[in-house]
Amino acid sequence: MAVRQWLVVGVAVVVAGRGEAFMEWFWSTPDQDLCQGVCECPQDLVMARQRGIDCVQRNITAIQDGLDIPKVFPSITFARNHIKTLSPATFASSSSLLTLDLSENDLESLPGGAFTPLMALSTLNLRNNNISALDPEAFVGLHNLTRLDLSYNGLTSLPEGVFGDLTSLQELYIGFNPLVNLNGSLLAHTPSLKTLDLSQLGLQHIPPSLLMANLSQLQRVSLAYNELRVVPSRALRHLGASLLHLDLSGNLFTSLDAYSFDGLENLRSLTLEQMFRLVTIDAYAFGDLTRLETLVLRYMPWMESIDSKAFHRIVEGKESSLRLADFTFSYSSLHTLPEHLLPWEHLRYISLHLNHWRCDCHMRWVKNATELLRQTGKTMITMFVFLVVVMTAGLSASLATIALLVYWRRGWLCRRPKGAYSSVRRSGSTITITEEVDNTSEA
Ligand SMILES: *[C@@H]1O[C@H](CO)[C@@H](O)[C@H](O)[C@H]1NC(C)=O
Ligand SMILES: *[C@@H]1O[C@H](CO)[C@@H](O)[C@H](O)[C@H]1NC(C)=O
Ligand SMILES: *[C@@H]1O[C@H](CO)[C@@H](O)[C@H](O)[C@H]1NC(C)=O
Ligand SMILES: *[C@@H]1O[C@H](CO)[C@@H](O)[C@H](O)[C@H]1NC(C)=O
Ligand SMILES: *[C@@H]1O[C@H](CO)[C@@H](O)[C@H](O)[C@H]1NC(C)=O
Ligand SMILES: *[C@@H]1O[C@H](CO)[C@@H](O)[C@H](O)[C@H]1NC(C)=O
Repeated sequence: MAVRQWLVVGVAVVVAGRGEAFMEWFWSTPDQDLCQGVCECPQDLVMARQRGIDCVQRNITAIQDGLDIPKVFPSITFARNHIKTLSPATFASSSSLLTLDLSENDLESLPGGAFTPLMALSTLNLRNNNISALDPEAFVGLHNLTRLDLSYNGLTSLPEGVFGDLTSLQELYIGFNPLVNLNGSLLAHTPSLKTLDLSQLGLQHIPPSLLMANLSQLQRVSLAYNELRVVPSRALRHLGASLLHLDLSGNLFTSLDAYSFDGLENLRSLTLEQMFRLVTIDAYAFGDLTRLETLVLRYMPWMESIDSKAFHRIVEGKESSLRLADFTFSYSSLHTLPEHLLPWEHLRYISLHLNHWRCDCHMRWVKNATELLRQTGKTMITMFVFLVVVMTAGLSASLATIALLVYWRRGWLCRRPKGAYSSVRRSGSTITITEEVDNTSEA
């Protein structure tokens, strides 16, 4: 009876066009240890394809040599275990595994050729381990790898040519490692790179040759939380044609001088957060970024003013301004917002909260601007309205409070004759208030 049911299922799958994979899965013996007890291996073919083998947080301390992952599972995750070592014999040859997740384990090193048997691997996640050393051949043979995450480890150096085989690599995350220096030839063989995360490596400068390599696809770069003292425009300039998104948060810039972003004419978004040393932004500082759409400036405790021409540039003797769409300047110490900083009517989103606004004549245009925008029917985002409302409400509230105090305590504002009082009489439909003088109290 049971045999017949299996047959029926088998036929149904063959009809659905998945017969081959099903038969392979059915007849091969999956790794017994993994799928019987320790990990979760979906029995349903569609689920097996979608979810792969789930060994998350199973207290696994080691992977037995010769791990053979059944072909039906394209991915396996060992995240959040206590795996300490891998060897070149850990994985049996597999051309079907596409995703391997070893994040949040206790790996301390990667031996040469550890992943070579997994020749089709596309995503390798080694985030949040304790890897301090990589063999120069750690990633040998991974010609199809598109995403590699090595962030949050203890890497102090990257051996020469370690990414040499990763010709398909599109996303590389090596942030949060104490690397301090990068070899200029590190990315010489990764021409498909689109995203590069170099945050918090302790970098004091970027070797110009690092980005000079053939990186014509690179669109997104993070250099956040390093120790750069100036915008590394000499290195970044080589990415001018492709770079769209740049994060330079948490660096040690004290000022942004005129034309700080030389050559980044295609940049669409720039993030500068937690700039704890930034004091001045000069005229024309952002002048190079002709296509900039989104600018985020946040958490800059010393930024009290911004030059009203910071977003201007001069082309053939004519001065013009950048046309941002989204502008954030918050959690800083700005006193005043220059009226001609940006062509405000073109903005889609503005966020200016938590600055030290001074409610003086320099800011009067803000109120006018809101009215103007309302008249022209533009949907202006909250901040201007908010600013005006807060300013008006604040002013009225303080005046009202003072008036009340004065009135109640001294009676200055509405001084009456001594002994005067109001008498209130209430009938069915009216309330009558009359001022009377009580002569009896004088007596
Ligand atoms: C994890 O494994 C260790 C031995 O390898 C054992 O002592 C411990 O009790 C296990 N913890 C859990 C939560 O299973
Ligand atoms: C690598 O990717 C290419 C293109 O996607 C594919 O044709 C090739 O079979 C893959 N290599 C392996 C070993 O799977
Ligand atoms: C990380 O590795 C170092 C040796 O490289 C070791 O001393 C340390 O205890 C490890 N830390 C953890 C959390 O395993
Ligand atoms: C970088 O790699 C080159 C070889 O490609 C080598 O000659 C040079 O010494 C390395 N530089 C550093 C700082 O390690
Ligand atoms: C640069 O990379 C592209 C693919 O992104 C490739 O077509 C081109 O040949 C490479 N150029 C050099 C000089 O390596
Ligand atoms: C406000 O706008 C009006 C025209 O809409 C203009 O006449 C006036 O001078 C403006 N006031 C300020 C303070 O800019």
